[in-house]
Amino acid sequence: MEVVPLATADDVAALAADTIEALVRQRPGAVLGLATGSTPLPTYEELVRRHRSGTGPSYDEVRCFTLDEYVGLPPGHPESYRATIARELTDPLGIAPERVHGPDPSPDGLPTAGARYEEELAAAGGVDLQVLGIGSDGHLAFNEPGSSLGSLTRIKTLTEETRRDNARFFGSVDEVPRHVLTQGLGTILRARHLLLLATGAGKAAALAAAVEGPLTAQCPASVLQLHPHVTVLADDAAAAGL
Ligand code: GLP
Repeated sequence: MEVVPLATADDVAALAADTIEALVRQRPGAVLGLATGSTPLPTYEELVRRHRSGTGPSYDEVRCFTLDEYVGLPPGHPESYRATIARELTDPLGIAPERVHGPDPSPDGLPTAGARYEEELAAAGGVDLQVLGIGSDGHLAFNEPGSSLGSLTRIKTLTEETRRDNARFFGSVDEVPRHVLTQGLGTILRARHLLLLATGAGKAAALAAAVEGPLTAQCPASVLQLHPHVTVLADDAAAAGL
């Protein structure tokens, strides 16, 4: 695991954008794994800024897979992860919607959504570069503490801590869905390169546990220690516990 301490969140965004652009230049048909949450947003803004200024690569042949999705939101809800990724990144980069995949949270599709998503990922040849954030309780995607380390895409129940953390995106905590579809930890480990972004003091304890603590389902992000190619970009505040 390569841990890169950087001074500020802007530095994290710039280096993450460099990493993504370098891959897409080298492999125009790259498969990108995209995370939501607030941490990757400055990276996405930077990619969009460079694209609009004409310095970024073409994303026409890229395919994207999101990590997770809320269950129970009305279709098109602005806080669904499908809508968020389209708004913040893939639409501004000109990536066609049919090239952006996410787990299917529709009620009819739910029983088979996990298995179908695993098939889609496999059919695409797997993820080349997976962007990740980390939850304040050490979760990855929506794999909360206790998630099995080899898990695949499935339905999970959110902890109250995560619902409170994510309430800022909704009117109140009561509006945050209780259930989600998420890639499993085993799914995430199949990506060829994992790029974990961590910014702010609120991530310091979780990042230290993930990088230097024991491998345990109680800190799902500690599973990254098993992967041969992980890059962690952390600002000073998030790296404070390392
Ligand atoms: C969310 C997402 C994760 C994200 C994490 C941290 O619940 N499902 O993919 O990494 O929590 O979010 P943030 O970056 O907003 O702190």
